[in-house]
Amino acid sequence: MSTDSVFAGSIPELYDTLVVPMMFLDYAEDVAAEVASAAPHDVLETAAGTGAVTRSLHRLLPSARITATDLSPGMLDRAATVLPSSDLVRWIPADAQDLPFDDASFDAVMCQFGVMFFPDRPGAYAQVRRVLRPGGRHVMAVWGRIEDNEASLAVAEALTVLFVDDPPQFLRRTPFGYTDVTVIRTELEDAGFTDVSIRTVTHHSRPTSARDIAVAHCQGTPLAHILAERHVDTARTTAELTRLLEARWGTQPYVGRLSAHVVTAVAA
Ligand SMILES: C[S@@+](CC[C@H](N)C(=O)[O-])C[C@H]1O[C@@H](n2cnc3c(N)ncnc32)[C@H](O)[C@@H]1O
Repeated sequence: MSTDSVFAGSIPELYDTLVVPMMFLDYAEDVAAEVASAAPHDVLETAAGTGAVTRSLHRLLPSARITATDLSPGMLDRAATVLPSSDLVRWIPADAQDLPFDDASFDAVMCQFGVMFFPDRPGAYAQVRRVLRPGGRHVMAVWGRIEDNEASLAVAEALTVLFVDDPPQFLRRTPFGYTDVTVIRTELEDAGFTDVSIRTVTHHSRPTSARDIAVAHCQGTPLAHILAERHVDTARTTAELTRLLEARWGTQPYVGRLSAHVVTAVAA
C-alpha cells in the first residue's frame, strides 16, 4: 500500500485536533445534511476517519444506525473517544475496496474526503453499489482543485521552495488529485449509479496560525511519511514551512478559501 493512504502513528491525533477543525467541519455538515434529507435508517460510512461526518449525521438523525468504517484502526479509536460505540453507532475497521457487508444492506453510504485515497476507486464504487439497497444514495465529498484551496496551495508552493530539486507531490497527487467532475460522474455511472449530481461548494477555513497549518500538513497527514522516508528533520521542516507561510500571510490567524465537490448518486 502506498504511504499516501496511511493514517497511523501520531497522525490520528494531529489530524483530529488540527486538520479537521481547520478544513473539514463545514463540509461534514453539508454531507450529513445531504444524507439526512432522505431520512435513511441504515447508513454506512467509508473512510470515516475520526468521525467528523459521523457525529454530524448522528446529531441530525439520532435514530439512524450508522456503521462507520475506515482502513485505519487508529483513526476509529480516536473517533470512538468522542462518540463511543452504541446500538446506533458502530466503528469497524474495513477497506472500502472490500467491504465486509451483505449485498443490499444499507439505505445510504457516505464518504467525506476518502475516495481520493483508494487505489481501486472503481472497485470501491462497485462495493458501495453492492451494499446499497436499490434506490439508496451514495453521498460523498472530494476536494476541488488545489488552486481553489488556498492554504493547501500555499503549503504545496512552500514545499517547492524547501525541496527545490524534488518537492513532495502528495497534496497534488492524492487529496487534490481527483477533481475532474466528468471523471467522477463517469466512474460512478460505470459502477451502476444514476442521477449523479455534483455541486461545487465554497467554504472558508477556520482562523488558524501559520504554525498550526504547517504542523497539520507536515505531521497530521501522510505527508509525514514522505518526509520521514526522505530522512529530513520533520520539526525543522515544519518550522521552515511556518516561516514561509508567515512571510506570505503575516502572523495573524489565517482564513483561506476552500472548495470541494459534494456528490450524490443513486444506486440503480
Ligand atoms: C482525509 S481522511 C478523511 C476522514 C474523514 N472522512 C473526515 O472527513 O475527517 C481520509 C481517510 O481515508 C482512510 N482510508 C484510506 N484508504 C482507505 C481504504 N482503502 N479504505 C477505507 N479507508 C481508507 C484513511 O485511513 C483516512 O481516515
